[in-house]
Amino acid sequence: MKSTLLKNCRIVENNKLISCHLFLEGEKIGHISDDPITADEVIDIKGKIVIPGMIDCHVHCREPGNPQKEDYLTISRAAAKGGITTFLDMPNNTPPTTTVERLEEKRVLAKKSLVDYGFHFGADGKNEQEIKNAKNIASVKLYLDLTTGGLKLDDFSSVERILNIAPFCAVHAEQENLTNVISLASGLKKKVYACHISTAAEIQEIRKNRKSVFAEVAPHHLFLTEDDAASLGMLGHVRPALKTKADQEALWNAIAGGLVDTIATDHAPHLKEEKMEKEIYGFPGLETVIPLLLHAVNEKRLTLQDVVVLTSRNPAKVFGIHNKGQLKEGFDADLAVIDLDLEKEVRGTCLLTKCAWSPFEGKVLKGWPVATFIRGTLVYRDGNFFPHQGKEITIIARRPQPPTREQNLIPENPEGENSPSLQREKEGSLSLQQEEENNG
Ligand code: NCD
Ligand code: ZN
Repeated sequence: MKSTLLKNCRIVENNKLISCHLFLEGEKIGHISDDPITADEVIDIKGKIVIPGMIDCHVHCREPGNPQKEDYLTISRAAAKGGITTFLDMPNNTPPTTTVERLEEKRVLAKKSLVDYGFHFGADGKNEQEIKNAKNIASVKLYLDLTTGGLKLDDFSSVERILNIAPFCAVHAEQENLTNVISLASGLKKKVYACHISTAAEIQEIRKNRKSVFAEVAPHHLFLTEDDAASLGMLGHVRPALKTKADQEALWNAIAGGLVDTIATDHAPHLKEEKMEKEIYGFPGLETVIPLLLHAVNEKRLTLQDVVVLTSRNPAKVFGIHNKGQLKEGFDADLAVIDLDLEKEVRGTCLLTKCAWSPFEGKVLKGWPVATFIRGTLVYRDGNFFPHQGKEITIIARRPQPPTREQNLIPENPEGENSPSLQREKEGSLSLQQEEENNG
């Protein structure tokens, strides 16, 4: 088995940066060492920071159906460049991924991916047997609001049936639909994953029902508001829509208060021409999410620990992804090397996603990923790609009983949501300790 030494790394541990050398054994993290032991290959990281690669649990690859918008190769190149080592693909394709046969077709198409991947499965209200037969799916996605694709579920009785039979459900549910689906899940003693939470009212709902819901936030709701939507014009259409400054603040406060479990891009590429022609919804996000978050770290709105927990550790735990999400011995060596000092402007024409435009156009961000390893192989470095075949993740079988309060990934901050970030740093490490204890 080939060994690789990543010499002179800095890694994030308990909110501190630690200098070390990472010894990789084949695809795994072998050990994290103080001494630069010899290996078949030595790569000098030159003191840069190495974080676990992002697990982006919400992306829309457009294959099959609309490969002109994105395919598994382009999405994976954009991901690798963005410091994302695994993505979970949504089912609202044309045709939607609502049968095992269509899931199998996707599995063949996805073999082009450079990075690792998994799949969410669709629900159309008529495919319960298919849901039961689908193997190794991250979730069954329930669309309760109108969006791209024809998967909206119109009656809550089918939602209830699916919640009962699915191993785990992710929901696109805004406002009252969120309230209703959480109350249904809670009655059934289930815990659902709420995609792209975007308003202060929804955050209130999450706060009241931590036992029954995981919360995801998308970068565009953290970094853009309705004012940006107005200046973006036709390009500014996204579901859920960009919201007010007050809603945006509520999302940041919710992160500070430990109410948000994951940050995921909701990468939903549409070509610029398509967007200019008619109202269609969705933003690309793979290549800008880590730079936006690192920029927020530089501005002291987040800690690096927050970034690692929200983009990698928690996604792996929420979806039960085997052996990923932590920089820990025996875990897959999925790594992003980041340069916190590198400053660059976002330019749509430089993006690798097929749609090649960005709602963050022109923003100068400080902090960018510079190299990406997938299961021990260097796949991307400073603008260059190296051959690699991504593979499907393994979802750990879920326990039949509902998750309990103790399994909340980040306990809510007892000081409330407005504690200063320094205090949050302290509590961040505390909550991780608690989490280890809870998991035994
Ligand atoms: C998504 C798409 O285009 O697939 N669009 C979006 O605005 N987010 C669908 C979705 O996630 O709702
Ligand atoms: Zn989406």
